[in-house]
Amino acid sequence: MNLEKLKKKKDDCRNWKNVEPWFLQLQESCKIEKLNLKIDYGDWFSIGNRTDLSQEEYEIILKTAQKLIPWRKGPFKIFDLEIDSEWQSNIKYNLIRPYFNLKDKIVADIGCNNGYYMFRMLEDGPKRLVGFDPSPLTLHQFEFINHFVKSPIVYEMLGVEHLEYYNHKFDFIFMLGVLYHRADPVGTLKSLARGLNSKGEIIIDTFMIDGKEELCLTPNKRYSKIPNIYFIPTIPALKNWLERAGFGNIEILATTITTSQEQRKTIWSFDESLEDFLDPNDDSKTVEGYPAPKRVYVKARKIL
Ligand SMILES: C[S@@+](CC[C@H](N)C(=O)[O-])C[C@H]1O[C@@H](n2cnc3c(N)ncnc32)[C@H](O)[C@@H]1O
Repeated sequence: MNLEKLKKKKDDCRNWKNVEPWFLQLQESCKIEKLNLKIDYGDWFSIGNRTDLSQEEYEIILKTAQKLIPWRKGPFKIFDLEIDSEWQSNIKYNLIRPYFNLKDKIVADIGCNNGYYMFRMLEDGPKRLVGFDPSPLTLHQFEFINHFVKSPIVYEMLGVEHLEYYNHKFDFIFMLGVLYHRADPVGTLKSLARGLNSKGEIIIDTFMIDGKEELCLTPNKRYSKIPNIYFIPTIPALKNWLERAGFGNIEILATTITTSQEQRKTIWSFDESLEDFLDPNDDSKTVEGYPAPKRVYVKARKIL
């Protein structure tokens, strides 16, 4: 293929994926260079102050943040611009926070989205922090924030299915909100086990249904309007999956019901959110008539 044709192919691909407008805008904000910015690792992961920027620079930051909508995970404050994401991811992060210490550990966040949890994990001083997520939009969001944070986080546009082929193993793996998207959940948990060093640990969360039996819900087409939800286990079924994948020391950390405090529409997100996914007459059910989203948080250790 000659160079002209190759370039055209690339351009077509970019337009189809609509990546180019994000990429060009990101380049504009990456021209702004600021050193020693103040970082706050709190619920609003914050970098810099409004006073660090000229008016012109602030307008570029605003335009970039707007171009990268929807922001599903966060919240972030960048030079005092509040990016109030659809999900208050701080609620999930604060729930799991007491159960790990990443000091000097080699850590992966699978399905890391824009890296919100990884930015907060930096505070622990991990030896290496790698995010896996194949989504181009969330990569651009990550690059936008990280250009100013200047962290050593590595963001790989890879999926959980690539983890076992990665060039090193991990001591601790997080895989939050991903398992129910996988058509082969036991195979996915096996991939986590293969990606871990001996006695490595995981924290995962997934949708669950109530029940003492070892059963799963398999939604027809959509669950809570989400198209790619395959298996929603009871806790005993989830424990069986984990054991079959080679995990022991299985601890149930918490179960939660998603509320509109945690997931809601904002100016930075899509037009629909949790309130549109539940039965308007009975919020214990989804619009499809399934039990409303409930999550279980689990920690486990690779047994070999
Ligand atoms: C429901 S979101 C969860 C985001 C975040 N981990 C959380 O818990 O808030 C699922 C994420 O998985 C990512 N994803 C999609 N396919 C994936 C794959 N094959 N491997 C890993 N992550 C994937 C999506 O891009 C998305 O960011």
